[in-house]
Amino acid sequence: MDGNGRWAKQRGLPRLEGHRRGVETVREIIDGARELGIRYLTLYAFSVENNRRPQDEVGGLMSLLEYFLDRETATLVKNQVRLLTIGRTQELPDFVRRPLERAIQATAHFTEHTLILALNYGARTELLDAVAAYSRAVAAGAEPAAAPSWETLNRYLYTAAIPDPDLVIRTSGEMRVSNFLLLQSAYAEYVFTPTLWPDFTKEALAVAVADYARRERRFGLTSEQMKPSGA
Ligand code: IPE
Ligand code: MG
Repeated sequence: MDGNGRWAKQRGLPRLEGHRRGVETVREIIDGARELGIRYLTLYAFSVENNRRPQDEVGGLMSLLEYFLDRETATLVKNQVRLLTIGRTQELPDFVRRPLERAIQATAHFTEHTLILALNYGARTELLDAVAAYSRAVAAGAEPAAAPSWETLNRYLYTAAIPDPDLVIRTSGEMRVSNFLLLQSAYAEYVFTPTLWPDFTKEALAVAVADYARRERRFGLTSEQMKPSGA
């Protein structure tokens, strides 16, 4: 979700106003994803690096997160959407962690749709946390001391229980990945749109998904191998 700051700047508004509008887009896209039958939606809401923004902006983003959780938990329950997080959420302020925990617990039994908030997330931090957890498991005798397979190490990532993303969308015209799900996106398709996040819509999401559906994913194989036999 990128472009909140520029959206605000274009209108002569404070950056936080852009983030406020961005929250409205979040609500619309959660709805749109559900309507499109997308079972897992991950929103990159706050990166490890975002912590280094001016403290009033960081504080404003945290307050917005609290506001979103207070307001949206009931909607998630109503729509049977399970909430999960990835990232070092233990470092978030208490006033965010409490409603976050509440929302996670209130929706834990839903299975059809999952919303994953990447909060204080970074792919490199995730790898470090996975290696540390794996090392502890080896030391405790829960894992063999041999070099781990990908399947084994995968179980120590934040996303252990979440499938790899099929499609990654970045708004605002930036064509970079910015430390987002680097390992999990190894074979993801990317859509980059110039639309700023506050202007992104359900319709734009559907367009990105249609673009994705036209692509041939080969996972390193040949086109012929990907065709069903006899075709
Ligand atoms: C939102 O957009 C991303 C968040 C960190 C919430 P930005 O705040 O990065 O907006 P730009 O890039 O300054 O336009
Ligand atoms: Mg940005």
